[in-house]
Amino acid sequence: MKKMKLRIHFWGEKILRRKCRRVKDVDDDIRMILGEMYSLMRVSDGIGLAANQAGVDLRLIVIQIKSNIFKLVNPKIIKREGSIKIEEGCLSFPGITLGIKRAGKVWVSSLDENGSPIDIEADGILAVALQHEIDHINGVVFIDRVSFLERLKLKNKLKEIRKMAEHAAQKSEQ
Ligand code: CO
Repeated sequence: MKKMKLRIHFWGEKILRRKCRRVKDVDDDIRMILGEMYSLMRVSDGIGLAANQAGVDLRLIVIQIKSNIFKLVNPKIIKREGSIKIEEGCLSFPGITLGIKRAGKVWVSSLDENGSPIDIEADGILAVALQHEIDHINGVVFIDRVSFLERLKLKNKLKEIRKMAEHAAQKSEQ
């Protein structure tokens, strides 16, 4: 596979609504995509990124909380417990932060970048990041998890982001 240039996809771009495809083989191409996703997340100043946010239709996510880096393939939440609500941002929704109620603790089963099974037991911000990113690869975004009224309040901001999305899509076609 040739080197790809990934970019952040914004709200309004169809791929954010995509239920992403499972990865069949964790090979060099997958490791390359994970590496590119990680770089994109870092330069964009995020703590998590899902593949479809980078325009790739695969079940891949990257997360970095302090010095802990996760590059996960086909991650799945197998158990949730308790609840937590913290302010979340999303690289696909610049300028928007939302307090979302999520499980306070999650157990995630996944593959790592070498294709080995990895089980993660997470709470706090890591639990939130895992739920946020796994939502993404299922085509779910954080505005889906707030009330209708709260979403209504975001109307103008979302309109702006859609404009930005159109612009980004046009630019990348050139
Ligand atoms: Co996000």
